[in-house]
Amino acid sequence: MSDSPTARRVSRRGLLTGGALAAGGALAGGVAVADPPWVRTASPVPVAEVGTAVEPFHGPRQAGVATEPQAHAAFVAFTLRPGTDRAALGRMLRLLSDDAARLTQGRPALADTEPELGLLPARLTVTFGFGPGFYTAAGLHAQRPPSVVDLPAFRIDRLQRRWSGGDLLLQICADDPLTVAHTQRVLVKDSRPFATVAWVQQGFRRAAGAEPGRTQRNLFGQIDGTANPRPGAALDAAVWVPDGPVWLRDGTTLVVRRISMNLETWDLLGRTDRELAVGRRLDTGAPLTGEDEHDEPDFAATGPDGLAVMPDFSHVTRSHVSDDRLKILRRPYNYDGAPNPDGHADSGLIFASYQADITRQFLPIQQRLAERDLLNEWTTPIGSAVFAIPPGCAEGGWIGQQLLD
Ligand code: HEM
Repeated sequence: MSDSPTARRVSRRGLLTGGALAAGGALAGGVAVADPPWVRTASPVPVAEVGTAVEPFHGPRQAGVATEPQAHAAFVAFTLRPGTDRAALGRMLRLLSDDAARLTQGRPALADTEPELGLLPARLTVTFGFGPGFYTAAGLHAQRPPSVVDLPAFRIDRLQRRWSGGDLLLQICADDPLTVAHTQRVLVKDSRPFATVAWVQQGFRRAAGAEPGRTQRNLFGQIDGTANPRPGAALDAAVWVPDGPVWLRDGTTLVVRRISMNLETWDLLGRTDRELAVGRRLDTGAPLTGEDEHDEPDFAATGPDGLAVMPDFSHVTRSHVSDDRLKILRRPYNYDGAPNPDGHADSGLIFASYQADITRQFLPIQQRLAERDLLNEWTTPIGSAVFAIPPGCAEGGWIGQQLLD
């Protein structure tokens, strides 16, 4: 009866005591001393499954990539301080990996100043990314995945420094925004001796459980994520590096683009024009040539007027890829800042895409979209960053160990 309040309290106490001993060094001569106060106050208040759910931290591949997207995310990019060399990076990543290993499993971090906030992981994942400058600082140019370099400039770009670049990325995702905030606080605090914060982008999707099984919607109201490679063989072929040296195998790469969406001019469009811009229906997400969301678009179909039903300029026509090895995995989050005094929105997408190789997979799609995609009329990239996502680690190990040790 794991869901009775009593059983849950018991299991939480077990979990907490393990964390407490490690955190406080509470074993005196092999004898356990009294629980710290935050353990004693663990109450029988019922906790929902959404709060207690756990994603694994340890494993050959990092979590937070193939993981079903959580409702909230913070992308935190750092600039390494001068003098953060290979040895210092090792110390930093040991520490941050330990924090992440504990917090993702519902245990406070070592010396956690708000330990009660570490108790509900809500499927927390922390995914580490290494930007081009990370390899430079470590003196490991030869080990940088070749496609992890700044993207070429696209004519649609209006990039701002405050949303671009970064030597190290921590992608923090959970179904609870308080868990994300606490994790961000712990990790940023422990990074201070080694790095400064370059930028933080916070985003959201629908609340966990609000629309089970439904692909998320973005702030244009579009169903966004339909044509992603499916979990299993298709996703694996697109995302994970299958072979090569140990610091690459089971890794991937991440492109983060902050794309502002002009809701004011989008609002002026009629429904038909909105659907033509993407090539899919707003209600069901079905392609304009189909009935259901997951019907394959028919790019050859023509209407009574002889014109293509899926217009050549539509976002889906321009971005479509059939070969699984050339697809990308999109895992975007919406952002919604405060409107300006005139009530104009500051909204958009934190577009995050994972692929084994940026040059082979992401770039050709982005180039086709930059050349001709009607959606460009209402969207503007304002930030851009690229990272290698190194492999995961086993228990007792740390992220980056294969590269730095
Ligand atoms: C604010 C910017 C963007 C918005 C609002 C947006 C929206 C959408 C929507 C509604 C779909 C159709 C449903 C789906 O399959 O997810 C879609 C598909 C897609 N988008 Fe985007 N997108 C944006 C930016 C991008 C960027 C920057 C890229 C890559 C460089 C991209 C690549 C794709 C791909 C590959 C597909 C699937 C095409 C297919 O095979 O059917 N999108 N996007």
